[in-house]
Amino acid sequence: MKNFFLSLHMISMCLVIGTLFLQSLSVVFRLRLKTKEERAGLRATQVRIHKFIYYPILFVTIFSGVFLAVKTQVFENGTWIYPKLGLLVILIGLGILNGVQIKKDLMPKKYAMMVHIAIFIVGAWMIYFATVKPV
Ligand code: HEM
Repeated sequence: MKNFFLSLHMISMCLVIGTLFLQSLSVVFRLRLKTKEERAGLRATQVRIHKFIYYPILFVTIFSGVFLAVKTQVFENGTWIYPKLGLLVILIGLGILNGVQIKKDLMPKKYAMMVHIAIFIVGAWMIYFATVKPV
Protein backbone atom coordinates (compact mmCIF):
# COMPACT_ATOMS: atom_id res chain seq x y z
CA MET A 1 0.00 0.00 0.00
CA LYS A 2 2.80 2.44 0.94
CA ASN A 3 4.64 1.71 -2.31
CA PHE A 4 1.45 2.33 -4.29
CA PHE A 5 1.01 5.75 -2.66
CA LEU A 6 4.70 6.58 -2.97
CA SER A 7 4.53 5.82 -6.72
CA LEU A 8 1.32 7.87 -7.02
CA HIS A 9 3.04 10.67 -5.08
CA MET A 10 6.06 10.58 -7.39
CA ILE A 11 4.14 10.76 -10.68
CA SER A 12 1.70 13.40 -9.41
CA MET A 13 4.39 15.69 -7.96
CA CYS A 14 6.28 15.48 -11.28
CA LEU A 15 3.10 16.56 -13.08
CA VAL A 16 2.46 19.42 -10.63
CA ILE A 17 5.91 20.91 -11.15
CA GLY A 18 5.94 20.03 -14.85
CA THR A 19 2.55 21.63 -15.52
CA LEU A 20 3.43 24.82 -13.64
CA PHE A 21 6.82 24.95 -15.43
CA LEU A 22 5.19 24.76 -18.89
CA GLN A 23 2.16 26.92 -18.09
CA SER A 24 4.35 29.74 -16.73
CA LEU A 25 6.61 29.52 -19.81
CA SER A 26 3.63 29.48 -22.18
CA VAL A 27 2.49 32.79 -20.59
CA VAL A 28 5.82 34.29 -21.76
CA PHE A 29 5.35 32.69 -25.20
CA ARG A 30 1.79 34.06 -25.39
CA LEU A 31 3.10 37.60 -24.88
CA ARG A 32 5.24 37.08 -27.98
CA LEU A 33 2.37 35.97 -30.26
CA LYS A 34 1.52 38.46 -33.07
CA THR A 35 -2.29 38.29 -33.39
CA LYS A 36 -5.18 38.59 -30.92
CA GLU A 37 -6.65 35.33 -32.29
CA GLU A 38 -3.43 33.37 -31.62
CA ARG A 39 -3.27 34.71 -28.03
CA ALA A 40 -6.97 33.92 -27.41
CA GLY A 41 -6.45 30.36 -28.68
CA LEU A 42 -3.48 29.73 -26.38
CA ARG A 43 -5.25 31.38 -23.44
CA ALA A 44 -8.27 29.05 -23.85
CA THR A 45 -5.96 26.01 -23.74
CA GLN A 46 -4.01 27.37 -20.73
CA VAL A 47 -7.24 27.95 -18.78
CA ARG A 48 -8.38 24.35 -19.45
CA ILE A 49 -5.00 22.87 -18.40
CA HIS A 50 -4.97 24.97 -15.21
CA LYS A 51 -8.50 23.92 -14.25
CA PHE A 52 -8.62 20.28 -15.40
CA ILE A 53 -4.96 19.16 -15.01
CA TYR A 54 -3.06 21.38 -12.52
CA TYR A 55 -5.59 21.60 -9.67
CA PRO A 56 -6.73 17.91 -9.77
CA ILE A 57 -3.10 16.64 -9.86
CA LEU A 58 -2.15 19.02 -7.01
CA PHE A 59 -4.98 17.46 -5.01
CA VAL A 60 -3.65 13.93 -5.77
CA THR A 61 -0.11 15.00 -4.69
CA ILE A 62 -1.33 16.45 -1.39
CA PHE A 63 -3.66 13.48 -0.73
CA SER A 64 -0.94 10.89 -1.41
CA GLY A 65 1.53 13.00 0.61
CA VAL A 66 -0.77 13.12 3.63
CA PHE A 67 -1.26 9.33 3.38
CA LEU A 68 2.53 8.83 3.34
CA ALA A 69 2.97 11.30 6.20
CA VAL A 70 0.53 9.36 8.39
CA LYS A 71 1.92 5.96 7.32
CA THR A 72 5.56 6.91 7.96
CA GLN A 73 4.79 9.18 10.94
CA VAL A 74 7.02 11.72 9.25
CA PHE A 75 6.02 14.61 11.56
CA GLU A 76 7.38 12.62 14.54
CA ASN A 77 10.44 11.17 12.80
CA GLY A 78 11.80 13.89 10.57
CA THR A 79 12.07 17.66 10.28
CA TRP A 80 12.68 17.78 6.46
CA ILE A 81 8.91 17.77 5.92
CA TYR A 82 8.48 21.27 7.46
CA PRO A 83 10.67 23.26 5.03
CA LYS A 84 9.22 21.09 2.22
CA LEU A 85 5.64 22.04 3.17
CA GLY A 86 6.72 25.67 3.65
CA LEU A 87 7.97 25.64 0.05
CA LEU A 88 4.71 23.95 -1.01
CA VAL A 89 2.79 27.00 0.24
CA ILE A 90 5.05 29.22 -1.92
CA LEU A 91 4.57 26.88 -4.91
CA ILE A 92 0.77 26.99 -4.52
CA GLY A 93 1.03 30.81 -4.32
CA LEU A 94 3.01 30.83 -7.59
CA GLY A 95 0.33 28.52 -9.06
CA ILE A 96 -2.42 31.01 -8.11
CA LEU A 97 -0.35 33.87 -9.60
CA ASN A 98 0.10 31.80 -12.77
CA GLY A 99 -3.68 31.32 -12.86
CA VAL A 100 -4.20 35.10 -12.77
CA GLN A 101 -1.50 35.59 -15.44
CA ILE A 102 -3.33 33.05 -17.63
CA LYS A 103 -6.61 34.95 -17.31
CA LYS A 104 -5.12 38.40 -18.04
CA ASP A 105 -1.80 39.87 -19.19
CA LEU A 106 -0.79 40.83 -15.63
CA MET A 107 2.89 41.64 -16.13
CA PRO A 108 5.48 42.26 -18.88
CA LYS A 109 7.59 39.41 -20.31
CA LYS A 110 10.58 40.03 -17.98
CA TYR A 111 8.50 39.53 -14.80
CA ALA A 112 6.49 36.66 -16.31
CA MET A 113 9.84 34.90 -16.90
CA MET A 114 10.77 35.52 -13.24
CA VAL A 115 7.62 33.65 -12.14
CA HIS A 116 8.69 30.79 -14.39
CA ILE A 117 12.22 30.69 -12.90
CA ALA A 118 10.84 30.89 -9.33
CA ILE A 119 8.60 27.85 -9.99
CA PHE A 120 11.66 25.88 -11.17
CA ILE A 121 13.77 26.84 -8.13
CA VAL A 122 11.02 26.17 -5.55
CA GLY A 123 10.16 22.82 -7.19
CA ALA A 124 13.80 21.69 -7.23
CA TRP A 125 14.25 22.78 -3.61
CA MET A 126 11.21 20.75 -2.50
CA ILE A 127 12.55 17.64 -4.22
CA TYR A 128 15.95 18.24 -2.56
CA PHE A 129 14.34 18.26 0.90
CA ALA A 130 12.20 15.18 0.13
CA THR A 131 15.02 13.07 -1.31
CA VAL A 132 18.14 14.23 0.57
CA LYS A 133 16.28 14.83 3.87
CA PRO A 134 19.13 17.17 5.03
CA VAL A 135 17.49 18.09 8.34
C1 HEM B 1 4.17 19.55 -5.06
C2 HEM B 1 4.26 19.03 -3.87
C3 HEM B 1 5.20 17.89 -3.48
C4 HEM B 1 6.39 17.48 -4.05
C5 HEM B 1 7.11 18.07 -5.25
C6 HEM B 1 6.85 16.32 -3.28
C7 HEM B 1 8.01 15.59 -3.57
C8 HEM B 1 8.37 14.41 -2.94
C9 HEM B 1 9.48 13.54 -3.34
C10 HEM B 1 10.43 13.80 -4.53
C11 HEM B 1 9.50 12.47 -2.49
C12 HEM B 1 10.41 11.22 -2.58
C13 HEM B 1 11.46 11.20 -1.63
C14 HEM B 1 12.22 9.89 -1.74
O1 HEM B 1 11.71 8.87 -1.28
O2 HEM B 1 13.29 9.91 -2.27
C15 HEM B 1 8.44 12.69 -1.52
C16 HEM B 1 8.18 11.84 -0.47
C17 HEM B 1 7.30 12.17 0.52
N1 HEM B 1 6.39 13.21 0.54
FE1 HEM B 1 6.15 14.62 -0.87
N2 HEM B 1 5.97 16.07 -2.26
C18 HEM B 1 4.96 17.02 -2.32
C19 HEM B 1 3.89 17.15 -1.46
C20 HEM B 1 3.79 16.47 -0.26
C21 HEM B 1 2.80 16.72 0.77
C22 HEM B 1 1.69 17.79 0.66
C23 HEM B 1 3.07 15.87 1.82
C24 HEM B 1 2.39 15.69 3.16
C25 HEM B 1 1.61 16.43 3.76
C26 HEM B 1 4.20 15.05 1.41
C27 HEM B 1 4.75 14.03 2.19
C28 HEM B 1 5.72 13.17 1.76
C29 HEM B 1 6.22 12.04 2.56
C30 HEM B 1 5.76 11.65 3.95
C31 HEM B 1 7.21 11.41 1.79
C32 HEM B 1 8.14 10.25 2.22
C33 HEM B 1 7.65 8.95 1.84
C34 HEM B 1 8.67 7.90 2.27
O3 HEM B 1 9.07 7.88 3.42
O4 HEM B 1 9.03 7.11 1.44
N3 HEM B 1 4.63 15.44 0.15
N4 HEM B 1 7.76 13.87 -1.84
